[in-house]
Amino acid sequence: MRVTISHLREMKQRGERIAMLTAYDYSTAMFLDEVGIPVILVGDSLGMVVLGYDTTLPVTMDVMVHHTKAVVRGAKRALVIADMPFMSYQASPEEAMRNAARFLQEAGAQAVKLEGGEHMAPTVKRLVEVGIPVQGHIGLTPQSIHQLGGHKVQGRSPAAAAKLLRDALALEQAGVFSIVLEGVPAPLARLVTQRASVPTIGIGAGLHCDGQVQVIHDILGLYPDFTPKHAKLYARIGQVIKEAVQSYMEEVQEGRFPTAKESYAMDETILAELEAPGADPLPKRRVAVGSD
Ligand code: KIV
Repeated sequence: MRVTISHLREMKQRGERIAMLTAYDYSTAMFLDEVGIPVILVGDSLGMVVLGYDTTLPVTMDVMVHHTKAVVRGAKRALVIADMPFMSYQASPEEAMRNAARFLQEAGAQAVKLEGGEHMAPTVKRLVEVGIPVQGHIGLTPQSIHQLGGHKVQGRSPAAAAKLLRDALALEQAGVFSIVLEGVPAPLARLVTQRASVPTIGIGAGLHCDGQVQVIHDILGLYPDFTPKHAKLYARIGQVIKEAVQSYMEEVQEGRFPTAKESYAMDETILAELEAPGADPLPKRRVAVGSD
C-alpha cells in the first residue's frame, strides 16, 4: 500500500521520524522504494546535481514532469512529491493550479512542494481546496537565492526568527500536509516543530524536526562540485564509478574485455559453410532487362 499524507501525520503523532530523500530517475526510485523510504521528493535540485546548472532557476515544468514520470514508474510504495520549479506557481494561483495538476495528472505524483511562507498561503489554499496535497518549504529557499544573497542560514535575527514561525503557521493554516525547513538554526526548527501540527522535514535544520530530507547526490558522493555542511557522506559512489570506468577503459584498451563469458557463440557448421572456398554469401542479383 502506498504511503499517504495521513500516514505522515500519524507518524508525527507517534513520534516516528520520517526519512525523505530525493530521486530523479526510475532505478534510483526503485532502490529507495525497496529499502522502504516513505517519501521521495523529485526536487528541482536536479537542475544542479543532474543537469549541471549553477542554481535551480533554469529548471522548467517539462523537465520536472519528465523526471517525475520516471520516479513514479520506479516507486510503488513511497509517496512521490514533485517540486514546483521557479515561476511555475508564483505568478498566480491559477497558473499554480494548472502546473500542479500536471504533476498529478500527467506524471502520477501524489503531491507537490512549493517554496515560500505567508505570501504563498493563498495559493496553497487554492491547491488544497481542489484536492492537490501541498508540502511547504521555508527558510533557505533556493529559488530565491539571488534575493537571499547565497546559500545562507535563515531565521537568525529576532525578526527573521519570528517571521519563519509566522510563515510556518500560515502555511499550516492554508492546509499544507508538511513543511520543509531548510537552513534554519536547530533550536528554531525545534520550536516550529513543536508549534506545527503537520510534520516538519529538516535539511540543515537540526535533529528535532519530525523528519529529514537530503539530496541523494550529496549523501552518496555523486556531486563533485560541492558538499553542503548539512550533508553526511554515506558512500562515495562517485569514486566507485571512477574506479570501475578506469578498469573498463584499461581492459578495452588491452583487449581483455569482452571475454568468452560476455560473448555469444554460434553453430560452427554455419561458419564453416561461409568460410568454404567458393561460397558466395551474397544473394543472386537480378539483372534488369534492357539495362546495360
Ligand atoms: O530541490 C530539492 O531537492 C529540495 C530539497 C533540498 C528539500 O527542495
